[in-house]
Amino acid sequence: MEELQKQDHPNSQNDVVDDIDDDSPKLSLETLAALKEFLTEQNRSLVAEPEPEPAEVALVTEDWRLSQFWYDRETAETVAHEVLTLCQGSQSDSRVACIACPTLYAYLKNFNSNIPVQLLEYDKRFEQYGSEFTFYDYNQPEELPLEMKHAYRIVIADPPYLSKECLEKVTQTISFLSQPGESYLLLLTGEVQRDRAAELMGLRPCGFRPRHSSKLGNEFRLFTNYDPGNRLGGWKQED
Ligand SMILES: C[S@@+](CC[C@H](N)C(=O)[O-])C[C@H]1O[C@@H](n2cnc3c(N)ncnc32)[C@H](O)[C@@H]1O
Repeated sequence: MEELQKQDHPNSQNDVVDDIDDDSPKLSLETLAALKEFLTEQNRSLVAEPEPEPAEVALVTEDWRLSQFWYDRETAETVAHEVLTLCQGSQSDSRVACIACPTLYAYLKNFNSNIPVQLLEYDKRFEQYGSEFTFYDYNQPEELPLEMKHAYRIVIADPPYLSKECLEKVTQTISFLSQPGESYLLLLTGEVQRDRAAELMGLRPCGFRPRHSSKLGNEFRLFTNYDPGNRLGGWKQED
């Protein structure tokens, strides 16, 4: 930049910039003008562009026969932000598995399309996600590709039913996918599963209450195996 200021000096009349030291390389005025333009452009590109607002997330319509109840926007964004926070803390190893929560998958990809997420889902309409979709039926909890075994640092599940049998089978899938003692586990399900979630996976509820686009009669909770600190309304010991 110093050189360019010299070029702007009113006494610079020659085609070639004179300098006291004749041995130093000299630039023509055209070259200096081009260099100035180049540096101005570079400075411009260094000014941070504002982050674009995430686009509206397009979801397929709910099929209630498959127990499909999509999160409302605030819920999907809150959980997606939590997953992104966990990914940032996990640095290189931040593979994410979403079990039966396609809305979360869509919001995560909307926030950051580079995040490595695998969606395990029964509804084949989500084959639209290509290689990031894996067909999954909770009745065959471990019928999954072997390369998925213990491959995920973050596992989130939203089982289709509130029965003991369903949670037990989904727990088998979570154990299959997660890295023992290492992974962050998040379970979104009814309050009625609270004791079972604690017995099966050592999960505790957070203060945050998931909500759905269609109003549901059941009270929903988010259970985790880690203390989220101030996030997600804190971790409830008792309430
Ligand atoms: C309670 S919904 C959870 C969806 C979540 N709230 C969301 O917004 O992404 C349950 C999910 O389980 C899926 N599902 C239905 N039958 C299933 C089965 N047999 N095995 C695995 N998943 C199933 C549904 O397609 C649905 O996406």
